[in-house]
Amino acid sequence: MGSATAAKQLDAYWMPFTANRDFRKEPRIISGAKGHHYTTVDGRKLYDLFAGLWTTGLGHCHPKIVEAVQEQVATLDYAIGFQVSNNRSFELAQRVVDLAPEPFTQCFFTNSGSESVDTALKIALGFHRAKGEGHRTRLIGRERGYHGVNFGGVSVGGMVPNRKVFSANLIPGVDHIRATFDLEHTAFSRGQPEWGAHLADDLERLAALHDGSNIAAVIVEPVAGSTGVLPPPVGYLERLREICDRHGILLIFDEVITAFGRLGRPFAADYFGVMPDIITTAKGLTNGVIPMGGVLVQKHVYDAFMHGPESMIELFHGYTYSGHPVAAAAGVAALDAYEEEGTFEQAAALAKPFEDLLHSFAEHPKVLDVRNIGLMGAIELKPREGAPGARGFEMHKRCFWEEEIVLRNGMDTLQFSPFLNANIDDLTHALERIRHVLDTID
Ligand SMILES: Cc1ncc(COP(=O)(O)O)c(C=O)c1O
Repeated sequence: MGSATAAKQLDAYWMPFTANRDFRKEPRIISGAKGHHYTTVDGRKLYDLFAGLWTTGLGHCHPKIVEAVQEQVATLDYAIGFQVSNNRSFELAQRVVDLAPEPFTQCFFTNSGSESVDTALKIALGFHRAKGEGHRTRLIGRERGYHGVNFGGVSVGGMVPNRKVFSANLIPGVDHIRATFDLEHTAFSRGQPEWGAHLADDLERLAALHDGSNIAAVIVEPVAGSTGVLPPPVGYLERLREICDRHGILLIFDEVITAFGRLGRPFAADYFGVMPDIITTAKGLTNGVIPMGGVLVQKHVYDAFMHGPESMIELFHGYTYSGHPVAAAAGVAALDAYEEEGTFEQAAALAKPFEDLLHSFAEHPKVLDVRNIGLMGAIELKPREGAPGARGFEMHKRCFWEEEIVLRNGMDTLQFSPFLNANIDDLTHALERIRHVLDTID
């Protein structure tokens, strides 16, 4: 790259969540992947420290998934999904339900995490209306929450830059409980912070303000991910569940990151032993290979819709690609691989060594906080004076160019999503390189 022609070739693509103009000066472009590594257009091999984008826990180009996709696309590339469907979508729905905690009996397919979130919010509103409680319209999210980029998800989300431009257009009737993060009390916690269960009582405050009978649902990530990995305080999720039960509010866990093994269990609901009414998923459902999401509901949620004339559509919602056969084939193959390879057990076994590696940064003079749970981790750096985010971004770039590592930063927080089957020596080596960059950066 670098020539005028090469630069022009980059112009047409408006990249998501990217500093586009800066990127064009130093394009970081990947053209291949295998296992735990990427290859770049100029032939460099990079270690992927983020498993795609929290997506690809099994590693890239997993042979079983590649084969399943190739076979499926040559057998049934697409079939209409409304009033007719394809065999693979039913197969995958059953597999997901079998993997999920027992109360979950149905799965609605989407194409992304954002669509899963908006689907879940609509299901929650439809549920109450079907139960004769159409006045329950208020939705509650959490500050610092990330629920994708569609209008529903941004409205219940709590990441300020994502909301700022659309502030006046977000959906009405939404409120937020407080984030579960306070450096003064939670810094350098290993796993769940001891402090903070009481923050769930913020929901009680909103129930008092709006009257609980007007609230349809509360949506939280069991572990806030994109905002920089905030594990829930001990007892917090249990308390949220209790308050929801007290007021007849549905609890939605957004498990787009945590589902399919990121905490060493199939779902975060299993890990924490707290059952929401609805679970949103995406990413690991197909190992990131084909876009797909799924919304899992408990039986009582599904049953509420199954009334009225049988020839009537019960939920006026769905996507052209809901249950896409090629995506579903990728999903079945990913679930097979998780099971056959003991991937969730591998992830569980890696959690403690990974925690120790991350916390070895705790004393570093440029580090404000280290957080982790399962195979999710964050090292929050001290920002540069007057330039928040600059140090984190430079870490990302230097790791890419000098250390052959794809490291993700959210502002000044370095985020870690190792492969579920990562090798501890690779992780140790990558973290050593990161320490070297951190030592030498301004
Ligand atoms: C918790 C959560 N919800 C929703 C989303 C949005 O998913 P997508 O980017 O597939 O729309 C994400 C993406 O990272 C996420 O982490």
